[in-house]
Amino acid sequence: MSRRRRMVVANWKMYGRLTSGLVLAREIAEKAEEARPLNFDLVLCPPATLTWAIGEALLGTPVMLGGQDCHTATHGAYTGDLSAAMFVDLGCRYIILGHSERRYGHGESSELIAQKVEAAQLAGLTTIVCVGETADELKAGETAEIIEKQLRESLPKKIKTANLVVAYEPIWAIGTGQQPEPEDVVTVHKQIRKVLGEVGETVRVLYGGSVTPSNAENILCEDEVDGVLVGSASLNADGFWAIAEKCQ
Ligand code: 13P
Repeated sequence: MSRRRRMVVANWKMYGRLTSGLVLAREIAEKAEEARPLNFDLVLCPPATLTWAIGEALLGTPVMLGGQDCHTATHGAYTGDLSAAMFVDLGCRYIILGHSERRYGHGESSELIAQKVEAAQLAGLTTIVCVGETADELKAGETAEIIEKQLRESLPKKIKTANLVVAYEPIWAIGTGQQPEPEDVVTVHKQIRKVLGEVGETVRVLYGGSVTPSNAENILCEDEVDGVLVGSASLNADGFWAIAEKCQ
């Protein structure tokens, strides 16, 4: 068993309207309530529009809330953006930063992500920082190099490692049904710990990319894997719980 407390995080991305999102959150919370006390951290990261309502629905349950991205500034003239403190207001304890859908879909650089990490930690959030290689980088044998570079550049100098979680999400595995072999995940997770230096053994490192109820066990049985970051399979309460309970 891993020495670190495990973690299962749902990234709902841009899915869920008020009614469907509330139903899903309540169903997940009900399962978590029945399983109390949870031996792992369970976090839902819904679209920001749902966070307040879901936060109310989750009050008193063991399920925690997170955001999917935030701005670097505390406030200002930034149309359409949300600050880390705003997520804190909504009851969030976590925030996903540097997801590949932000890095590649919105052209976010590692330098920008490092600024977001610093801002989010200052606001009191625990940052889930995503790193991962593309299919071409994998083919070229550049995974180790890319992961090290992304990680080093995406963490601010003033990092609070107690408030840091790293998620290894190979881009080619996101939403594709493809996955690395568990031993390859272990290799990357070990490398992430090495890059983090002496605190590496205390930081939780998650895996994300096409995690489903049928393949979660293969990954979660590895000591190096402190949990999973789940996309599409987190949009169904039974399926998501089937993954989560493997950490119980
Ligand atoms: P999928 O689980 O849908 O592959 O998404 C993974 C992901 O991007 C989680 O952040």
